[in-house]
Amino acid sequence: MNKKTIWITGGSTGIGKALAIKFANKGWNVAISARREELLNEICNQYENISAFKLDVTDKSKCVDVFNEIKSKYENIDICFFSTGTWNPKKEKDIDVDQMEEVFNVNFFGTVNSIKAVEQYFKDKKNGIITIVSSIAGYRGLPNSTGYGPSKSALNNLAESLYFDFKRSNVRVCLVSPGFIKTPMTDKNNFKMPFLKTPEYAADQIYDGLVNKNIFEIHFPKALTVTLKLLSFLPSKIYFKLVGRLTKYQKNS
Ligand SMILES: NC(=O)c1ccc[n+]([C@@H]2O[C@H](COP(=O)([O-])OP(=O)(O)OC[C@H]3O[C@@H](n4cnc5c(N)ncnc54)[C@H](OP(=O)(O)O)[C@@H]3O)[C@@H](O)[C@H]2O)c1
Repeated sequence: MNKKTIWITGGSTGIGKALAIKFANKGWNVAISARREELLNEICNQYENISAFKLDVTDKSKCVDVFNEIKSKYENIDICFFSTGTWNPKKEKDIDVDQMEEVFNVNFFGTVNSIKAVEQYFKDKKNGIITIVSSIAGYRGLPNSTGYGPSKSALNNLAESLYFDFKRSNVRVCLVSPGFIKTPMTDKNNFKMPFLKTPEYAADQIYDGLVNKNIFEIHFPKALTVTLKLLSFLPSKIYFKLVGRLTKYQKNS
């Protein structure tokens, strides 16, 4: 088998699903993982080069088992794209420790479990790409984001740390920071999302960044991400004032 192969977690809906279809249409073998097998199978039924590997990323040993299954099916894995994530806006206003633990278990430790499962394979192979999907919410603290933002900030730091580590083995670690993309995750938001884009737009940006460029961070849409990056360089006092105003955040809301 000569084709290149990508493993996508969070492949049942949203950005992961759109990216799976993008890579499949470009002729790649695509392995998709998520918990909802019926959604994975619906996608596989439409694309002969996409295969489903059911996985809950909070289960460490299952991450290893699933990666072994993917390796035995495809032999050579070129890109891993770890995009599982969870966000519940209703529970992000308070310090709800159970909720924060759940968010970290999926967004942060779920990604760590996935990376750990592929670590030795890529270090031995000495090429390939490990992709961590973060968010603009990880750049700096935002109102009403007690679990999600911190979990994404932790991923940003992890990605930079792993960049050095994997570079020694010629493996590229890549960070993806999407702005607002219309998916089941953001359908829960009850505020107007600036520069909202489709999952297909996200998939085009990510495909281009992974396949055609050699960059660390793939971020989009630039009109939003560059503005937020500039804001993130500001001293806290000015940052709080500006972001408070921009998000119309009221102290007691
Ligand atoms: N949409 C945006 O505006 C936006 C912006 C910035 C960053 N992001 C990030 O992009 C990634 C994809 O988000 P999305 O917008 O495409 O949301 P989504 O459509 O809700 O996709 C989330 C995916 O994660 C999977 N998942 C959740 N918990 C899991 C678990 N324990 N084990 C395995 N899979 C799990 C879901 O599948 P199952 O439920 O079937 O398991 C689903 O495939 C997330 O990391 C998100 O934080 C999204």
